[in-house]
Amino acid sequence: MLVQETSKLKEDILRLKKEKDVVILAHNYQIPSVQDVADFTGDSLGLSRQAAKVDQKTILFCGVHFMAETASIISPQKKVLIPDLEAGCSLSDSITLDELKNWKKQHPGAIAVGYVNTTAEIKSELDYCCTSSNAVNVVKSIPENKEILFLPDMFLGSYVAKMTGRKNMRIWAGECHVHAGITPDDITKKIDSLKEAEFLIHPECSCTTPMMYDFATGSFEDRPVSILSTEGMLNHAKNSKAKNYVVATETGILYRMKQQNPNKTFIPASEKAECQYMKMNTLEKVYDSLVEDKYEVKVPKDIADKARLAINRMLKIS
Ligand code: 13P
Ligand code: SF4
Repeated sequence: MLVQETSKLKEDILRLKKEKDVVILAHNYQIPSVQDVADFTGDSLGLSRQAAKVDQKTILFCGVHFMAETASIISPQKKVLIPDLEAGCSLSDSITLDELKNWKKQHPGAIAVGYVNTTAEIKSELDYCCTSSNAVNVVKSIPENKEILFLPDMFLGSYVAKMTGRKNMRIWAGECHVHAGITPDDITKKIDSLKEAEFLIHPECSCTTPMMYDFATGSFEDRPVSILSTEGMLNHAKNSKAKNYVVATETGILYRMKQQNPNKTFIPASEKAECQYMKMNTLEKVYDSLVEDKYEVKVPKDIADKARLAINRMLKIS
């Protein structure tokens, strides 16, 4: 698209969202032009919190389907739109409702803790929901004698088990194809490419597990390592004195990181770490959503009422 076309489209979107009383929420992995028209950009937890408190009657959620569902569950009186209904998530697809029901049957009395990257149906079967930024605290809040079923991400699950020292945690073997693709090998290759770089790692990455020992000891080959949610990474980059960073998550986050820290250098741990689902939302589709009020994401009331209990417990824990 030509630069003039992009800026005209952006102007139209900004005008339309005011006229139609719409707030645009965008995840940190959205393409730059979509982030530019958003009212709030953030991680899953931050955006859920925004969805709960914004005044506008309509939320246009530029993220993936489970995020829009979560917003609709939290604010059932609001209309929630998503620019592309096909924007799914391989991690949320890694457990089905029947699989979860069977797992719970095999472990009666266990507490089910599920990542926010799950469908509304799965959330309706959970005791607690969590995100990458509060998973450790959610698990810590559960009495130690209670067995925990943690789903669906195995790398986040192993990280949480390590950080809490929990021995009675069963972890579902699911993964996000983008983060599972960021391997220890990618990290090793970057060690010498950026001098004195700090490592910022998302807990969904497959490199998280082998790097956990280094994380626990605070360094990897003498480089500081932090395992953080996407918003946690952005806050860390703003506050740390380091000049250089290797960033292990979806590459969309680099846009905001560079904008907020023009004098620092950021390189992705893997250039291939792109989520095709997140990238389905384009500026044209955002415009069409606003003009045609599409695509509405609605969760049936019985499912939403049950799922809200687990989500509200998540929102209470930071
Ligand atoms: P954050 O909650 O850290 O933004 O991660 C979410 C995620 O992986 C969405 O794909
Ligand atoms: Fe899902 Fe992974 Fe894409 Fe996040 S990056 S939306 S977890 S597939």
